[in-house]
Formats: sequence, structure tokens, C-alpha cells
Amino acid sequence: MGEPQRVLVPLTQAAIFLVATIDEGGEAAVRELLAEVDDLRKSVGFRTPDQNLSCVVGIGHRAWGRLFTGPEPAELHEFPGYAGPVHSCPATPGDLLFHIRSEMTGTCYELAMAIATRLRDAATVVDETSGFRYFEQRDLLGFVDGTANPEGGAAEAAVLVGDEDPAFAGGSYVMVQKYLHPLDEWNALTIEEQELIIGRTKLSDYELPDDVKPPSSHVTMNTIVDADGVEHDIVRANMPFGTVGDGRLGTYYIAYCATPSVPEKMLERMFLGTDEAPYDRILDFSTAVTGSLFFAPSADFLGDLPDAPSSVADEDVDIDVPEFAPVIAAEAAPVVSDGSLSIGSMKGSN
Ligand code: HEM
Repeated sequence: MGEPQRVLVPLTQAAIFLVATIDEGGEAAVRELLAEVDDLRKSVGFRTPDQNLSCVVGIGHRAWGRLFTGPEPAELHEFPGYAGPVHSCPATPGDLLFHIRSEMTGTCYELAMAIATRLRDAATVVDETSGFRYFEQRDLLGFVDGTANPEGGAAEAAVLVGDEDPAFAGGSYVMVQKYLHPLDEWNALTIEEQELIIGRTKLSDYELPDDVKPPSSHVTMNTIVDADGVEHDIVRANMPFGTVGDGRLGTYYIAYCATPSVPEKMLERMFLGTDEAPYDRILDFSTAVTGSLFFAPSADFLGDLPDAPSSVADEDVDIDVPEFAPVIAAEAAPVVSDGSLSIGSMKGSN
């Protein structure tokens, strides 16, 4: 098994989630960055050893064949998106994911900047979210988030690809979705109503007894037990994010898994419902605005990339890395989409 990237690290105080699409002709520069990103992480992280800086890189299905020859991870595909009777969630573009974690936003930011600078003229950042840790690991709904994550060997088994796909053993699938919460509506509920929606007590974070927890509760919807009675887990590293002025705030959901079929089953149940409930009640207070699936290959894979397709000139990549990367001019950034995503072009910003 290849040495995994730092997928399973303890919770940090801060994270930056960067999702980018690769521009036409940007493949060679992206390959260069993939090979170099751990050195960048070391440059920032060695100076700040107490801040536990880490960066996991994920690659999307559409990008894979543009970057590498050879096989693709067996279960890598595009995030499907789900349209249920009441709620739906979109699939949004994403060729690259950088999940940057540290105890300080400043350290995350420094590494994000180094990455974005190298992606200039090669890729476009389509979503950038700065996450923070809230009180007692709570999300902005006020509930402790992450409690039921597996630990130790169980966590490794839940997230790492093994012998079922030997060429990619040590890698991990990564699913991300950005959810917005209408907090005023949520806060208008009583605590008891909220607890029935989540399936846990709010203050003390105990799971509600089975005869109290409704089938539409978030915990019930996300408890996946197969025909043999085996429970299937994922490891979540969700982070709150948001701006208070416009109330654009929510939960950045990120899940690592050995197979995307597990979180996909969860989403199927959440959005399309089960025999017992039409959908997950958390969705009445959570709107997904992005959704993408990636594969985070092992660190060994990144250290020794497969050959590039013949269309990609691997030699003589001329990446212009200025000493300081100025903020991208906002007026140069085309705003696409339904207004829910800020899409900024990294191009032409020198
Ligand atoms: C559990 C919040 C989205 C999967 C929980 C818990 C909270 C929570 C508070 C209970 C404590 C815990 O065990 O962590 C949220 C919020 C979301 C969100 C605010 C965004 C709106 C999702 C999504 C999935 C998911 C999209 C999967 C596709 C899970 C799982 C559990 C869980 C597997 C543990 C269930 C168990 O107890 O076994 N979530 N979640 N969550 N959530 Fe979410």
C-alpha cells in the first residue's frame, strides 16, 4: 500500500477548501504542482511546527485522463447530484481539490496562496471556502459535528483503498458539498425540535434512543448497515464557514472514504428518502450549492506521477511564479452561475 496523504489528521482550528478546474492547456503546470505541493507544504509548515499544517490533494474524474496515462481509480466518477421529491443537490465542476488544514487561518492562507500562484494561467479556482472551528466542534446549527467518526484502525479501514484496487491502494475518495443554513428559521425551532431533526441531544451530544429518534433524523438517515449487519462508515472533517453581514453561512461537508458508494448511499437516503421517511429533515435547513467527488491518491503516487498523455508537453513548463501574488482583481472575475458560487478566474491577473 502506498503511503497515504495526510487524510486522517486530528481536527484543526482552521481549513481552506480550494476547488479548481484545469484550463485548456494547463495540464503540464498542474502536473508540476502536484509533484511539488508537498514541498510547498513543508516550506510553510516547517516554520510553523505547532500548527499541524497539512494539505490533501484530490483529483476529479474529468481531469484524470487529461493528466495521466494508465488506469484510473476503479470507482472514480463524477459526483452524480440528487433530485428528490422536496430537496436536491447539484453536481458542480471540480478537477482539483486542495484540503488545507492548520491551527491558524494564516498558515492555511499562505499555502493556499502558494498553490493558487502556481495555478495561475493553468487552472481556475471555482470555489474557495475558509472554514473555522466553532465552539466544542459544533456546526453553525449549534450541534457537535463529527462525534460518530470512526477512530484508529476503523478509520483507516473506512477511508483507505486496499487490495480491491491495488494500483491505488493507500488512496482515498473525497466528497465535498457546501451547504448554506437559513439560521433564523432554524433558531425559531425549539431545542427539542432540533434534536429530533439531528438525532442527538444538543448540549450534551448523546444519541437519542431508537424509540425517540425519528426515521427522518440525520443520524438515522446516515447510519448505513448492510444485509450482513455490517455498518459502513466515512470520516467527516466538516467545517463551519460564513459571513455575518449577508448571512451566507453554513457547513462545508467533506468526507473521506474507501469507496464513494458509502457516502452516495447516504445522500440517496438523505435526498431520495427511505421506506420510513421521505427525506432527511436536516435538508429543510441546509441547501447544497456545490458537490464534487475526487480521488486523493497516495503520497507515493504524487511523488512519482504516471506519464503524461502525449498531448501534454511535460517538458519546459514555464510557470511564472512572482515573489508576491497580488489579490486577483475582482472586476476581472467573471461571475457565472446562479449567484450562489463565486467563480473567479485566475487568468490574466499579473
Ligand atoms: C452525523 C451535521 C451533512 C453524514 C452528523 C451529526 C451532525 C451532523 C451534527 C451528529 C454528530 C456526529 O456524529 O457527527 C451535518 C451538517 C451537514 C451534514 C450540518 C450539512 C448540512 C452530511 C452529509 C452526510 C453526512 C451530506 C453524508 C453524505 C453523516 C454521518 C453521521 C453524521 C455518517 C454519523 C451518523 C451516525 O451516528 O452513525 N452530521 N451533517 N452528514 N452525518 Fe452529517
